[in-house]
Formats: sequence, structure tokens, C-alpha cells
Amino acid sequence: TVGNKDSVAETAPHFASITVLGGGQMGAGIAQTAATFNYTVNLVDMSDDALSRGQGYIIKSLKRVAKMRFKGDEPQQSRFVDDVLSRIKLSTDTESAAAGADLIIEAIIEQIETKRAVFGVLDKVAPAEAILASNTSSLPIGAIGEAVGDKRKGQLAGLHFFNPVPQMKLVEIVRTERTTDETIDRLRAFAKSIDKAPVLCRDTPGFIVNRLLVPYLAEAIRMLERGDATAEDIDTAMKCGAGYPMGPFQLLDYVGLDTVKFILDGWYKEGEGLAGSDLVRPSEKLDELVRNGRLGVKSGAGFYDY
Ligand code: CAA
Ligand code: NAD
Repeated sequence: TVGNKDSVAETAPHFASITVLGGGQMGAGIAQTAATFNYTVNLVDMSDDALSRGQGYIIKSLKRVAKMRFKGDEPQQSRFVDDVLSRIKLSTDTESAAAGADLIIEAIIEQIETKRAVFGVLDKVAPAEAILASNTSSLPIGAIGEAVGDKRKGQLAGLHFFNPVPQMKLVEIVRTERTTDETIDRLRAFAKSIDKAPVLCRDTPGFIVNRLLVPYLAEAIRMLERGDATAEDIDTAMKCGAGYPMGPFQLLDYVGLDTVKFILDGWYKEGEGLAGSDLVRPSEKLDELVRNGRLGVKSGAGFYDY
């Protein structure tokens, strides 16, 4: 059965085997979450180093969950961690990992050409009934799937998770003009089976959350650039005055400044209804941080040092 004693998940497995491409912060979180709910997962990245980094994220996060779930019971905590890990197979071979999967979730770098090429390969090697989904934050699902053959277009969708995946309840299911109702239903059932709250939206820039969140984050950076307040005070203000769990600069560092820069640059250039808009104007401050390798929490420094 899918689910565990603490979950409110459904009990039927919706996919026999899931492949997650990209073992970064998001791919690792998606693999961990699916494996926690008894799915068998192949996690693919480009090198053994990248895979062991991904496995490191998973172990750290699982230990945290285990500590909460089995307070004071260390043997049970390590049984839980080992059990979940045993369902995650690591691989550097995209083609063979995709060949046996009925759901493939892509969570690689946010670059349209790279994603497009990967989807072209996936379409060729994945079983005919497999669903191909992208976790992109900002790119059009339809454009990522351009290389996918006509037969598969109905089985292509966005499946957008939030960071940290094990903790954030939302999953946005993004439908293109071609995505079938059956695909949506299967993805919705899958999201519920891993105890997430699915919402459905059209294939527009940022879907729901990022369309609202990214302009807010960009305005926080502009506020800092104008010298209106410090990053610390802006963060305190939004936490204590607006009830956000993290202030905008904490969240920017958490999401990754390279990811946010990709989003702003892309939307400013060609986002449907956003191109050239001040809402998404690229920021000199953000560019400089990324240029200097300050990518946020994952690189040890961003707006703040970690
Ligand atoms: N793995 C597993 N569990 C985690 C975790 C992780 N990496 N990080 C936090 N948690 C869990 C903790 O175990 C704890 O669980 P319980 O509620 O069961 O006790 C819970 O989260 C709270 O953790 P903490 O008390 O340590 O820390 P916190 O209260 O500061 O919460 C947070 C941490 C959940 C990250 C919270 O600060 C938060 O919600 N921040 C905002 C995150 C957000 O907005 N994410 C969306 C980003 S946008 C995006 O992802 C889309 C995109 O495309 C860019
Ligand atoms: P990340 O940089 O942490 O991880 C990306 C991983 O993909 C790296 O390990 C990289 O080696 C790997 N990779 C690159 N090309 C690959 C390929 N061809 N095959 C296999 N692996 C490959 O990035 P991330 O933050 O995990 O973001 C991944 C995706 O999820 C992006 O599309 C991003 O927009 C989206 N996303 C990010 C967040 C966030 O908060 N960071 C939230 C939701 C969605």
C-alpha cells in the first residue's frame, strides 16, 4: 500500500515506478517524498558526485522527519531512514531509468534548451503509457515538451512542487492545451497519495504561486537597492507584520539566487504578458551576487552568509 501510519494518503499505488531527473534540492525532495509513501523511485543525475550530494540532502531531511516522528526512539528513527532510502535507486543513466518508469518527473537545471533535449530523449525511451512531467518554476510546459511526439502530448504536464518538498503541501498541476483529463486525474491522485494538496492551472508564466511570489521578491530587492531599509529589517517586517514564515531575503537565499535570476531574466525577455514589465525587471544586485557565486543557502552565501 502507499502511505504510512502517519499519513492520510490513499492506499492504491498510482504508479509502479517513478523516475526523478535531477538530484538537486528539488529532485532529492521529490524522490524522498515519493519513497516515503512507498513508491519505488529512480533518482538520476549527471555524475556520482551530484548523486551523492542529492543523497546527502535526502538523509539530512529524513533524519529531521524521523526525529519528529519517532521522538527519542533512535532505533526506530534509523529504521525509518533506511527503509525510505531502500526505495530510492541512484543512477546516472537517464535512458535506462526512464525505460522502466510510468511517471517521470524532470527537476533539472532551469534551462529551456537542456530541458527540451531531455524531454526528446524521454519520449523515445519511456513506455508508451508513461506520463512526462516537469517541475519547472517558470518555463512554459508546452515549450519544454516541443520535442515530444504527438502521441505523448496528452501525457505531458507540469507537476510543480515547493521547497522544502517534504514539508510544503502544495503541488501545482499544469495543463497544456493538449494534456488529457486522464493525465490530470492520475497526477491529482498521485499528489494526494503523497499527502500533497494539488491545484490545477493553465500553462502561464509562474503558474499560480510564482506569478505572485516572484514580483514580490523582486520588489524586495529593489527596496534594498533603493536603500529604503536593510535586508534584515525587510525580513523582520514581512515575518512579523505580514505573517510570512520567512522574509523575502531568507526565501530568496532558500530558493536559490541563480534560479530566481533565471526566472526574472526569462520573463523579462519573453514571458507571456510579462515581457518588458517592471514587475520582473532584472536586478543589478541579484546579477552581482550570482556572478560572485553567492547562490544562497546551497552555496553557503547569498544575501546572507550561512
Ligand atoms: N525536510 C523535511 N522537513 C522539513 C524540512 C526539510 N528540508 N525543512 C523543514 N522541515 C519541517 C520540520 O521538520 C518541521 O516539521 P514539523 O512541523 O513536523 O515539526 C517543520 O518543517 C518546521 O520546521 P522548523 O521549525 O525547523 O523551521 P521553520 O518553522 O522555520 O519552518 C520552513 C521551515 C517550513 C522552510 C518555513 O520557514 C517555511 O514554510 N518557509 C517558506 C518556504 C516557502 O515559501 N517555500 C516556497 C518557495 S517557492 C518555490 O518553492 C517555488 C519555486 O518554483 C521557486
Ligand atoms: P539544483 O541546481 O539544486 O539541481 C539541479 C540538478 O539537476 C543538479 O544536481 C544537476 O546536476 C542536475 N542536472 C542538470 N542537468 C541534468 C540532466 N541532463 N540530467 C540529470 N540531471 C541533471 O536545482 P533545483 O533548485 O533543484 O531546481 C530544479 C528544478 O526545479 C528547476 O527547474 C527549478 O526551476 C525548479 N524548482 C526550483 C525550486 C526551488 O525552490 N529551488 C522550487 C520549485 C521548482
